[in-house]
Amino acid sequence: MGWWGCFAALVITWSSTGHAVLRLEADRETKKAFQDLHFFSEGRGMTLSPGLISAYNIAVPGLGVVDRETMTDRWGILFNEENKISGLNDVEYKSHRVGVMGCVACHSGRAAGQFVIGLGNKNIDVLQMGKDVALIEAYWKWFVPWLMKDRAYIEVEDASLEFVNYLANPKIGNLTQGLVPISFIRGWFYRIHGQELPGDMTRGQVKVPPLWGYGEKRKAGQFCDGFGDGTELGWAVAVELAAGQTPEAVRAYYPKVKEAEESFSHLLPPPYPFEIDPMLAGRGREIYLNSCVRCHGKYQRDNDGLPVYEQPHWIPWQIVKTDRDRLNGHSLAFNQLVDGNPLNQILRYKTSEHGYFAPRLDGVWSRFPYLHNGSVANLADLLTPAAERPKIFSMRRAGDRERFDVKRMGLTTPAHPRELAAMQAEAKAGARDIYDTTRIGHSNEGHEFFTDLEDDAKTALIEYLKTL
Ligand code: HEC
Ligand code: HEC
Repeated sequence: MGWWGCFAALVITWSSTGHAVLRLEADRETKKAFQDLHFFSEGRGMTLSPGLISAYNIAVPGLGVVDRETMTDRWGILFNEENKISGLNDVEYKSHRVGVMGCVACHSGRAAGQFVIGLGNKNIDVLQMGKDVALIEAYWKWFVPWLMKDRAYIEVEDASLEFVNYLANPKIGNLTQGLVPISFIRGWFYRIHGQELPGDMTRGQVKVPPLWGYGEKRKAGQFCDGFGDGTELGWAVAVELAAGQTPEAVRAYYPKVKEAEESFSHLLPPPYPFEIDPMLAGRGREIYLNSCVRCHGKYQRDNDGLPVYEQPHWIPWQIVKTDRDRLNGHSLAFNQLVDGNPLNQILRYKTSEHGYFAPRLDGVWSRFPYLHNGSVANLADLLTPAAERPKIFSMRRAGDRERFDVKRMGLTTPAHPRELAAMQAEAKAGARDIYDTTRIGHSNEGHEFFTDLEDDAKTALIEYLKTL
């Protein structure tokens, strides 16, 4: 049965006892419950079909139909500290075993060799996964003709194929690992009204944001642009709907969604895992207070030294001027679709004005590559004028220790011209694990704030940011 079977039963015991529970313990419990959370229901949801599990289980080691390398390097699926797969669940449904994607397929990540639940997955590649799974399914059918007469099997199989083929849509899908196309969610609002996806639909590719601090963050607006109204919980189900779940089923399990979303306020950011020079960080704090604070806010700690979360500030696009692709899908017509959706009690928009949040910087060391589209490899590059930032870098195993640049805080970038040339050639050939800023929605422009600081001021500032 392999490690597909190694998942714990769904834990619904969210820490709800509130104040009595220490924050560290609440963080641990939330992570534990989130690890196994999925919303597969009535045969629908983010299902990857019964055949995939079987195909994995008969995969001959070495030949690798769905081996570990495929999962990690090709699809970006992670393995947690217990060496269990993160975010693919093996669920029983009408005597079939179904592969089900859970939230942490995207909402767990690795940084500098550490596995962190609540951090965004830097390598998840839903388009590649959709394409491969659709192919595996097509072949698998030939091996199991008797199952093609089983109603429950066909039901799940059809739902799964609809989901994976939608993920694999080359017109709206992500072009690079670690970016998730928001078009996938937008598309649901068209489909539910019986409309075709608009021909000029933008991909709107974003990296997966961290979920710590979300309890405060959502009050200011959801997503990187503040589109979602977070006063009523529920936007988290958007992925399930996009994957083919019905609004009726969502209504039925809504209390569970609410509980999950509420629990995210317990999550804590991972502390910086290496040494910090306190003197240098102290100087960096002064620089921070003179430059970044007006957008990114002040940082306070509670009595236990844990972060006190605050709402982020929303900044108009005319000021930050980062890549626009994520914003281009906003229109009055789209807002009307949102207004008229069958779950409009919980899926409401707050603003469709063009801008991005200046995110709170808790645990920022782990959130590279930076900006909403992950276009800037490390902090030192973000503090450099856009024209001088690396135009290409590798996302290969971005969470490994070897990929973490302590000095520049974030991803390593190509050091030699030869390495750079090789990467360019690969990117040109369509490599999905190379970040190429010339691809649509991948521009590293904008956020040119205080790029003229002296080098030692930048070093100090980076040291301070490690403490957040
Ligand atoms: C395919 C990857 C993927 C999966 C699976 C996924 N998410 Fe997300 N999630 C994202 C991305 C990407 C964003 C950011 C979208 C944006 O900012 O434009 C996001 C945003 C969110 C937010 C809002 C965060 C904020 O800062 O406003 C919440 C809450 C959330 N997800 C919860 C969930 C839950 C709960 C699940 C499981 C039902 C889930 N997500 C499954 C990719 C995913
Ligand atoms: C005028 C407001 C403003 C100022 C000043 C500013 N920022 Fe930002 N910052 C933003 C906005 C808006 C974003 C989000 C842009 C995006 O994602 O496209 C951002 C994003 C970031 C990110 C990316 C976070 C992530 O998770 O990807 C980092 C890091 C950051 N800023 C650091 C700094 C530092 C350090 C300074 C001071 C030198 C600074 N910023 C000054 C508005 C500002």
